[in-house]
Amino acid sequence: GLPNRVRIYEVGARDGLQNEQQVVPVEDKAMFVRMLAETGLETIEVTSFVSPQWVPQLADASELLAILGEEGLGRHRPVLVPNERGLDRALEAGVSAIAIFGSATETFARKNLNRSVAESVQMFAPVVYRAKEQDAWVRAYLSMCFGDPWEGNVPIPQVVDAARRLMDLGCDELSIGDTIGVATTGHTKRLLEALVEAGIGIDRLAVHFHDTYGQALANTIAALQSGVTIVDSSAGGLGGCPYAKSATGNLATEDLLWALDGLGVETGVDLKKLVATSVWMAGQLGRQSPSRVVTALGES
Ligand code: HMG
Ligand code: MG
Repeated sequence: GLPNRVRIYEVGARDGLQNEQQVVPVEDKAMFVRMLAETGLETIEVTSFVSPQWVPQLADASELLAILGEEGLGRHRPVLVPNERGLDRALEAGVSAIAIFGSATETFARKNLNRSVAESVQMFAPVVYRAKEQDAWVRAYLSMCFGDPWEGNVPIPQVVDAARRLMDLGCDELSIGDTIGVATTGHTKRLLEALVEAGIGIDRLAVHFHDTYGQALANTIAALQSGVTIVDSSAGGLGGCPYAKSATGNLATEDLLWALDGLGVETGVDLKKLVATSVWMAGQLGRQSPSRVVTALGES
């Protein structure tokens, strides 16, 4: 069966804009977040407090939150935080929801975090501890859960082990990342089953599919059939990871909405307003949205 309601975790402002060649002006980012909130999206990941040398696109995180004020803060406005320096900056900006981001593979841990998997868990431990002390909500992302551009197929027990290590830090939610978009429906179901068997409640699991192979929506529906109720997607299908070769955009929130509306699954999001938002952002970026739903509805 399918859930009655799905919580969409919108990542366009973070996963989307981190991957653009050009740095989007901070005022446009603020406008984007406000427009996303207007569509009824409850959870909006706003930005990242990572090293500005590593991701210059999001170096304006503090400034963005200052411009947004209350609209950029609260338990439904998470930001990415890799280390204590990032946590200090986030807390100073008034943040109360964060996301750490680990890797299931050694190569990507090295490329994305300059650490081994074990060293990155050590880096996250005080971040999660201190965030919980401040009563913040903490999500853990796990990247390369299906395939890795350097290591190929990623074995399920390796993913489960990495997932357990992150959840054992005390995180509230785990997002399963298909960073390069190679997952299939069967693989999705098998991995979710193994994670639940390892003691991670299905109500704490979110799915995060990139659409490189055009499978993101199918994989998401398979995950919903397995009992998942939290889905990551990005307005207009923006997204990618600058440190993962061959990562393209996320599942487009509009594609997800079109499918869920048809299935009678509630999301609380206004599809027309969201399409208008993505068409506006595509205009700012100077190119068309890769989403077929945005293209179809944006012209009418
Ligand atoms: P490092 O170079 O080992 O860090 O990078 P360091 O501690 O040696 O610091 C180097 C410099 O950065 C220092 O500055 C620090 O102060 C500064 P310097 O003294 O040389 O002037 N620095 C910071 N500045 C501001 N905020 C900070 C911060 N940290 C250090 N937080 C580090 C290690 C983790 C910092 C780096 O590797 C990094 O920032 N990585 C982030 C990469 C990233 O954001 N990737 C994209 C997000 S993950 C993703 O997209 C996947 C996901 O969508 C799920 C999926 O699809 O699978 C989530
Ligand atoms: Mg991603």
